[in-house]
Amino acid sequence: MARKKIALIGGGQIGGVLTQLIAMKQLGDVVLFDIVEDLPQGKALDIAEASRVDLFDVNVKGTNDYKDIEGADIVIITAGLPRKPGMSRDDLLVTNAKIMQSVAENVKKYAPSSIVIVISNPLDAMVTLCQKITGFPFSKVIGQAGVLDSSRFATFIAWELGVSVKDVNALVLGGHGDTMVPLVRYANVNGIPVMELLERKYNDKTKAKEVMDAMVNRTKMAGGEVVKLLKTGSAFYSPASSAIAMTEAIIRDEKRVLPTCAYLNGEFGISGFYVGVPAVLGKDGAERIIELTLSDEEKGMLENSVKAVKELVADMDRLGF
Ligand code: APR
Repeated sequence: MARKKIALIGGGQIGGVLTQLIAMKQLGDVVLFDIVEDLPQGKALDIAEASRVDLFDVNVKGTNDYKDIEGADIVIITAGLPRKPGMSRDDLLVTNAKIMQSVAENVKKYAPSSIVIVISNPLDAMVTLCQKITGFPFSKVIGQAGVLDSSRFATFIAWELGVSVKDVNALVLGGHGDTMVPLVRYANVNGIPVMELLERKYNDKTKAKEVMDAMVNRTKMAGGEVVKLLKTGSAFYSPASSAIAMTEAIIRDEKRVLPTCAYLNGEFGISGFYVGVPAVLGKDGAERIIELTLSDEEKGMLENSVKAVKELVADMDRLGF
């Protein structure tokens, strides 16, 4: 079977880690594109020169020419500016929408059959714009946010309970902003509800709820927590790992159920918007949305989050994108 071709648009922090992970997992040949001269070539060369040590056989090429992404099977977009301390993801809207316009036009031109995973923020708006410009099927233009948000939630739960993170299942729905919805009721450790474990640990329902509320809030603010510490950019290792989990599911047709920024057509009572929901990822992209029963409170939180996404999309329309 011919090796897959994976194009990475944006050779910054996330683009570099994506390249290394793809190489080490041998998921396919990589073309790393950036507008900055020599940067993607330098990163590609640096990573390729580790091939003997890490024993990978894939080709890694850096470029400033979109023609090199021709025929890519998967395109992962990180082009854009990251957040600076104090900036919200939405502050990035205008700058990154302009960048997304040119990126999406070139993806449409050179990789018309590709499946696109968007990482650039504000995520929900950038995925919407990318699909609009490429005109690709909705199932083939998706966004990475929920895998990371859910991983952050799971990490905090594992630390709190002193258990392996491998046994923690946690799901975050909604937009990739402060209104995201970590689903407390569905969070579990190998099937055991996390709330039950917290209540046993503290032998106090009020304290258990306080601890959970703190983890939920930390999850919602987790991106900002990293930005504040890094000072010069936003998280890049974990977003890259998360997008790679999605890429691997698609390339290997795994049918994994991963939280995905996917287009809804009536699911969860929402139509016509990209929202973070569990989706089955396989060779055709987001092949199916998995619905689940939500309480009135959870529905309210999801609606609130969708409202934020709708406002972003409306802002984009108003600004002429
Ligand atoms: N086409 C291609 N690449 C571009 C363009 C463009 N028009 N404009 C900027 N870039 C490149 C920059 O040159 C830079 O190398 O995008 C890269 C972005 O890299 P970083 O600034 O290091 O940002 P990174 O941490 O990788 O995050 C990228 O993902 O999580 C989001 O909020 C984050 O929107 C940001 C994106």
